[in-house]
Amino acid sequence: MVIREANPGDWPRIWPFLRDIVRAGETYTYDRDLDEERARGMWLTAPPGRTVVAVDEAGTVLGTAKMNPNHMGPAAHIASASFMVDPAHSGRGVGRALGEHVLDWARASGYRAMQFNAVVETNVRAVALWRSLGFEILATLPEGFRHPVHGYVGLHIMYQALHPPAAADPAG
Ligand SMILES: CC(C)(COP(=O)(O)OP(=O)(O)OC[C@H]1O[C@@H](n2cnc3c(N)ncnc32)[C@H](O)[C@@H]1OP(=O)(O)O)[C@@H](O)C(=O)NCCC(=O)NCCS
Repeated sequence: MVIREANPGDWPRIWPFLRDIVRAGETYTYDRDLDEERARGMWLTAPPGRTVVAVDEAGTVLGTAKMNPNHMGPAAHIASASFMVDPAHSGRGVGRALGEHVLDWARASGYRAMQFNAVVETNVRAVALWRSLGFEILATLPEGFRHPVHGYVGLHIMYQALHPPAAADPAG
């Protein structure tokens, strides 16, 4: 498996599984009927954000991640990221590899921390994976997500510091 920059030609291979994950409504705070054009604009992000794909030897897109500053201006030093692994290829380490890649990118880019804004508490695979990569749950928004099967469930804010606090370096 190789993780590389996504290009516009990858989109037709990303969209089918991204659409299915969003339509399932179990893991993302996106509208379940998100249309393709809007999804493409959201997912294939522009610098300083970045979108990557994980591909196998045959060129099959196994999964994708996008990474970006979580806020703008004086809060732009905190990164965030989103992940979609094709369910046909889940459980084979693609999510872990994408998570490690995104953390490497954030460190190399000088971000001070990474924050995931909305991890659905019933998404046990994702929560366990992010914890194993060093994230902690900072807080849980009670009933922040309406799950199609479980009803109202919590939304975790997950966080990981990437650099020591800059007490003596207010300019960053
Ligand atoms: C969450 C997601 C990114 C994980 O990707 P993946 O390729 O299936 O994950 P991996 O194969 O790398 O496995 C990750 C870990 O989850 C663990 N895992 C699998 N099923 C699990 C379960 N039911 N409960 C707890 N952990 C589980 C695996 O053991 C693995 O840990 P290991 O590497 O120590 O063995 C992927 O399932 C996905 O895209 N889901 C839909 C969208 C989504 O939830 N995105 C993230 C939003 S925060």
